[in-house]
Amino acid sequence: MRILSGMRSTGKLHLGNYITLEKWKELQDSGHECYYFVADWHALTSHKEDVSQFEFWTMDIVKTYVSCGLDPEISVLFVQSAIKEHSELFLLLSNLVSVSRLQRMPTYKEQRSEMSGRDLSSAGFMMYPLLQSADVLMYRANGVPIGEDQLYHIELTREIARRFNSMYGEVFPEPEPILSKFPKLPGTDGRKMSKSYNNFVLIDNNAEYLWKKLAPMMTDPARKRRNDPGDPEKCPVWDYHKAFTQNKEELEWVVEGCTQALIGCLECKKLLFENLVKKLKPVWEKMRELDNYEESLMKIVSEGNSKAKAFAESTMKLVRNAMSMRW
Ligand code: TRP
Ligand code: SF4
Repeated sequence: MRILSGMRSTGKLHLGNYITLEKWKELQDSGHECYYFVADWHALTSHKEDVSQFEFWTMDIVKTYVSCGLDPEISVLFVQSAIKEHSELFLLLSNLVSVSRLQRMPTYKEQRSEMSGRDLSSAGFMMYPLLQSADVLMYRANGVPIGEDQLYHIELTREIARRFNSMYGEVFPEPEPILSKFPKLPGTDGRKMSKSYNNFVLIDNNAEYLWKKLAPMMTDPARKRRNDPGDPEKCPVWDYHKAFTQNKEELEWVVEGCTQALIGCLECKKLLFENLVKKLKPVWEKMRELDNYEESLMKIVSEGNSKAKAFAESTMKLVRNAMSMRW
């Protein structure tokens, strides 16, 4: 299968992204042809006023990709805005979708009401899912690993692929969404993980930072005292355990200890902390190593961009042929 996915460059990556990256790595390691990119044009739709950090964030995200195990020798790691073909395909595909279809996208309506602090009235924001469709179709991807909130966008992509193929001839496969087994990781306060709530945990840091984030985490409010029994399902710490604690006995220890009031919440968090440090330590080390090799990171990006560009050109040849624009 050919796999494509991307993350927006709106800041440093957090633990929710880490779970996604584990899935990306798994796909890479099981032999699929993987294209992973940084969606800086997509970041623009919500961050157009503050682009000063864009290049830093993009490089930081590529650094995080590599540190989490994406191998630039195997996967193509690239930056969306370097591949101008995306904008050409985006323009051509814009004729295959109606304005009202885009306005009715649930993600569009939701974000407009949620992110009231940002100006989301632009045509660019409305066309966000169309740009995403162009990203996916450009690599004629068969699979797209995404979070559940992105399913609507893949559905739109499939519709556009079908419409294109029936109108101009078979060019695009219909991509399948690939969901990871973990639903979205909540923030440390149990709400949705979000920059505006300051309830996220960054991947890139150190043990001290991690403990500072985990120690005050919200728990089941029923457990006011140590001998009050609780329910893990009502506790975000448990969501984190499910995502990061692999050992079955440890998971059972948490459930038993919590429901029978045999452990304290701090003990429970300590275990989570230890397991997370085990996972993240090699990532931190790799990131610090890459800090000193800015050029090698640049090289990774420019080589990835060239490979992506070559593929994008091959797709655009097919598209221009199909649409009678062979100039
Ligand atoms: N919209 C995706 C997100 O917010 C990011 C993205 C942009 C993407 N283009 C994509 C994901 C193409 C998968 C495929 O997470
Ligand atoms: Fe949450 Fe663990 Fe406390 Fe239970 S024991 S409420 S799972 S932190």
